[in-house]
Amino acid sequence: MAQMVRVQNFTVSGDGYGSGEGQSLDRPFGHADPGALFAWAGATAHWPTRTDPGGTYGLDDYCTRDFTNNIGAEIMGRNKFGPQRGPWENHDWQGWWGDEPPFHTPVFVLTHHVRPSFTLGDTTFQFLDASPEDALARAFEAAGGKDVRIGGGVATVREFLDADLVDAMHVAVSPVEIGRGERLWTSPDDLVDRFHLERIPSPSGVVHHFFWRR
Ligand SMILES: NC(=O)c1ccc[n+]([C@@H]2O[C@H](COP(=O)([O-])OP(=O)(O)OC[C@H]3O[C@@H](n4cnc5c(N)ncnc54)[C@H](OP(=O)(O)O)[C@@H]3O)[C@@H](O)[C@H]2O)c1
Repeated sequence: MAQMVRVQNFTVSGDGYGSGEGQSLDRPFGHADPGALFAWAGATAHWPTRTDPGGTYGLDDYCTRDFTNNIGAEIMGRNKFGPQRGPWENHDWQGWWGDEPPFHTPVFVLTHHVRPSFTLGDTTFQFLDASPEDALARAFEAAGGKDVRIGGGVATVREFLDADLVDAMHVAVSPVEIGRGERLWTSPDDLVDRFHLERIPSPSGVVHHFFWRR
């Protein structure tokens, strides 16, 4: 099967925001509460950073499990990687995820301010100033025949959607409102001219949206 470009577990509020306003070191999602936005995923057995035993095994868990399934590389934007803007003052920052980032593949960070690559656990971060097409070519090569995940944030998902490079996308719509910040869409119906869409409500209150290319 051909390598695919996938968005997995991207989570937006009912009003379409994937992040709030005013990102900072203490608030990776700005004024938005990631605990509320990602409550559906945090409750599942396969949530990558779960430390407590237990967790759910229903539809939400299928989705969190699929996060890594057949993924060989991730592309993310610089604001998902960290809160810094402009030129790097130093290279001390290594992402939000500690010594064992949950990616376990090469990760390509899109930025106009490239810096040397580094490895944490089994995740390698490489920094690219490139068009979506060129970044994708690099990621496909690194993925060893597996799929490439577009990991966000919002601007990066939108950039790959605008370039028509996304084959399949899973977005969970959470029953919260964010009101301002980084918005993925005004409505999921914005995409139905280019994508099939199945909406599947989960008992947790999120509605899973599965898009795939027409
Ligand atoms: N809801 C979710 O599921 C989810 C998932 C992941 C992340 N997030 C959140 O989303 C927020 C980040 O999203 P965001 O929309 O602010 O930004 P983003 O997509 O993470 O990053 C955008 C930045 O990446 C760089 N960039 C993007 N494309 C580029 C290209 N082709 N060439 C060179 N540089 C490029 C630019 O940074 P520079 O010009 O500064 O280099 C740009 O300002 C964070 O709050 C994060 O926590 C949410």
